Amino acid sequence: MRGAAPAGLKLGTAVGLGLGVGLGVGAAAPSRAESLDVPFITTPDHVTLAMLELAGVGRGDHLIDLGSGDGRIVITAARRFGATGLGVEIVPDLVELSRRHAVQAGVADRVQFRVQDLFDPALDADLARASVITLYLLPDVNLRLRPRLQALRPGTRIVSHDWDMGDWMPDRTRVVEVPEKAVGREKLSRLHLWTLR
Ligand SMILES: C[S@@+](CC[C@H](N)C(=O)[O-])C[C@H]1O[C@@H](n2cnc3c(N)ncnc32)[C@H](O)[C@@H]1O
Repeated sequence: MRGAAPAGLKLGTAVGLGLGVGLGVGAAAPSRAESLDVPFITTPDHVTLAMLELAGVGRGDHLIDLGSGDGRIVITAARRFGATGLGVEIVPDLVELSRRHAVQAGVADRVQFRVQDLFDPALDADLARASVITLYLLPDVNLRLRPRLQALRPGTRIVSHDWDMGDWMPDRTRVVEVPEKAVGREKLSRLHLWTLR
């Protein structure tokens, strides 16, 4: 992953406070980071907003972030855009942290965070209820998820930070400058949107 961080990245080193979510205070490092399909790297606040705007998130939407990290995308969707949400994350410490952030942000009644493998087929029932799905994963993980995502109901919007879906062309792509991006020559993020038909 471009911008990949060391597996033992201490939570809170890459957080932004601009959205008032109060992220990254006093958290422990992920205990299972070495076995993750994707390392924990946060989407910067302004990129989070751009992803939610690209998907047109609003009241009435139910958003699922697959690999939800510290919960920022789900919490921002609820706090700034009035959506409900579910974060699915395999690292228990991150789920605990996300729940605390949701309380701090005043949206604990509208969001849930669950310790679950995003490849768990039991998740399909939740995915079927979502109107927006967000991803900040890796190219091969996106491709493994692709058949499950393509089976979702028409109108479902999928937004992926940085990585595409192979030959499944996005409906829109937005490029956002990210001067603070740690790795790679391009200091930008690509955000891809697919709307199921
Ligand atoms: C690049 S981070 C993105 C975090 C958050 N979505 C964001 O954009 O700020 C990817 C997240 O996926 C989680 N993850 C990796 N493999 C996973 C799996 N198999 N199931 C669920 N979560 C996973 C990692 O722990 C990490 O928090």
